[in-house]
Amino acid sequence: MTTTQIILASRPKGLPTLENFKMEDVALPSIRDGEVLLEGMYYSVDPYMRGRMNDAKSYAPPFETGKPLSGGVVAKVIESKSTNFKSGDIITGNLPWQKKMIASEKDIRKIDTTIAPASYYLGILGMTGLTAYFGLMHIGKPKAGETVVVSGAAGAVGMVVGQIAAIQNCYVVGIAGTDEKIKLLKDEFGFDDAINYKTTPDMKKAIAAACPKGVDIYFDNVGGSISDAVISNINFHARIPLCGQISLYNSTEIPMGPRLQPMLLTRSVLMQGFIVSNFQSEFPEGHKQLATWVKECRLKFTETIEHGFEKLPQALLGLFKGDNTGKMIVEV
Ligand SMILES: NC(=O)c1ccc[n+]([C@@H]2O[C@H](COP(=O)([O-])OP(=O)(O)OC[C@H]3O[C@@H](n4cnc5c(N)ncnc54)[C@H](OP(=O)(O)O)[C@@H]3O)[C@@H](O)[C@H]2O)c1
Repeated sequence: MTTTQIILASRPKGLPTLENFKMEDVALPSIRDGEVLLEGMYYSVDPYMRGRMNDAKSYAPPFETGKPLSGGVVAKVIESKSTNFKSGDIITGNLPWQKKMIASEKDIRKIDTTIAPASYYLGILGMTGLTAYFGLMHIGKPKAGETVVVSGAAGAVGMVVGQIAAIQNCYVVGIAGTDEKIKLLKDEFGFDDAINYKTTPDMKKAIAAACPKGVDIYFDNVGGSISDAVISNINFHARIPLCGQISLYNSTEIPMGPRLQPMLLTRSVLMQGFIVSNFQSEFPEGHKQLATWVKECRLKFTETIEHGFEKLPQALLGLFKGDNTGKMIVEV
């Protein structure tokens, strides 16, 4: 049997292009005991994948050139030699960018599509939802009445952070890159205010105006000058869950910014970087709480869905242009 896969053809310098990827056919062996044959349904593209395209040591190993990329996938079991899975089961796991793939029963888990659509297990009920939940609740530790600012607010992590902060009775301000996203955050997702960083000339002033009591929690998804502007409005004893730095992922040199440490020091601010897997042992708690809020309609979600396996590279590159609102997904 053959299938189609997308490999890393070359490593990018700066912003990746479609030439860094290649689609090719490959033979699949027969499955062995304890394995299943899967057909991909939904594929996640995520900003961290950009880091894995570099040949650099990080918390996740680099993608190898000439080998398929991989990431979160929701797939259907089409053949099984596992006692835990049968044909027709819908599962999720970290799987290669192939139309069909073989997985060990140890590396996949069944999902409950009666709670939410299957693709939500790549977003609000998957890695990005857990990132929002643990980053905000375990590092940000919101208290009622506090002001929470989140950058990348209309993305998969950001829109969940803002809604969880609202559930905690915080005052929530989002930062995003289009007027449509700003309107959506305020009208549909319960943000108290939102700022379009692309059309706001003085972000420091705009944040001061939107946050009259200062910023108690800054959930940082983007880094760079947006974060400099937020942090210049930071309150005493504020917390900064450092989740992502997407504005810097394609930088070819380290940009200089203001020296923020004196302000963090004198205002007793906690800034803590984290990777969602730090909370692995607590994932069941996160899954349960997120699923409960989704079922109770207290957490809403939206997705940008590209159609067709061949769209995977384009969808990944779209994250760096702000093409997505909510989770970027490729449906096959
Ligand atoms: N620590 C962890 O374990 C963990 C886990 C998941 C994600 N993350 C990080 O969290 C962040 C959000 O991830 P996500 O999956 O939710 O992605 P996402 O927000 O759904 O998609 C990326 C968004 O980033 C914004 N963006 C792109 N380039 C930007 C720039 N130069 N400056 C400001 N904003 C920019 C775009 O929105 P606009 O239209 O608003 O520009 C884009 O839609 C990323 O930095 C990611 O690496 C970390």
